[in-house]
Amino acid sequence: MINQNIPESVAIIMDGNGRWAKKRGLPRTYGHKEGCKAIEALIPEAGKLGIKYLTVYAFSTENWKRSKEEVGALMDLFRFYALRLLKASKENNVRIKLIGDRRKFPSDIIDSINMLEAETAENTGLTFVIAANYGGRDEIRRAAARYAKALQEGTVPKEAFAGPDAKVPEGELTEEGFAAYLDTADIPDPDLVIRTSGELRLSNFLVWQAAYSEIVITDTLWPDFNKDELVKCIEEYNGRSRRFGGV
Ligand code: IPE
Ligand code: IPE
Ligand code: MG
Repeated sequence: MINQNIPESVAIIMDGNGRWAKKRGLPRTYGHKEGCKAIEALIPEAGKLGIKYLTVYAFSTENWKRSKEEVGALMDLFRFYALRLLKASKENNVRIKLIGDRRKFPSDIIDSINMLEAETAENTGLTFVIAANYGGRDEIRRAAARYAKALQEGTVPKEAFAGPDAKVPEGELTEEGFAAYLDTADIPDPDLVIRTSGELRLSNFLVWQAAYSEIVITDTLWPDFNKDELVKCIEEYNGRSRRFGGV
């Protein structure tokens, strides 16, 4: 165990698979394969470090723009890893959750996603969150639609509202009240967001949730990321002063 304050919720933009492969003269899909191995190895390590929620950006709403071959290879990798992930989750007491709009995936993948969540729902260790066909803006858009529907149906809980003062009878929807309609409803906002491969952007990841996250960028390409790299990121996080708008 490292002598560090371990963030409860960590999110990773797993970037650089393509460049990792290109550097070796290999097809991009080979990089994705290696990237899958890296995340598979990291899950138990994250749990052992004491992280409670690990969210990874696996496929964005924009990634459909890639070639049919690359998208197909990513789907096949998910198919291959679904069963391995189930086995590893049972062994490591990991609960799996998917965020993003799963409806766009082929039906066998939707079935796998539902199966992974159902089979691991009772596990009490690390919650491993996979962002797949995920976009922060798309998530907020879907949350707004869900909220509108709930409002029509009269199912929005009254705790979701608070007046600026008690004199506003109907009150206004609070931030927490709205966040309950996001895909991440029961997942704490990330304390730390890591991006590999040196890119300095969020690329539509956790746009709402990362409002006050500490961001650590490493030049390491995703397939080379491992426990030691994660510990280095946590050390950098520990050197930060989180002020949340205060002083
Ligand atoms: C991240 O690696 C994985 C996915 C987006 C699925 P990239 O495929 O984006 O790799 P680079 O950025 O092209 O190197
Ligand atoms: C972000 O990486 C998405 C994932 C890691 C799944 P991208 O490679 O798609 O992002 P951009 O295109 O560099 O912004
Ligand atoms: Mg990339």
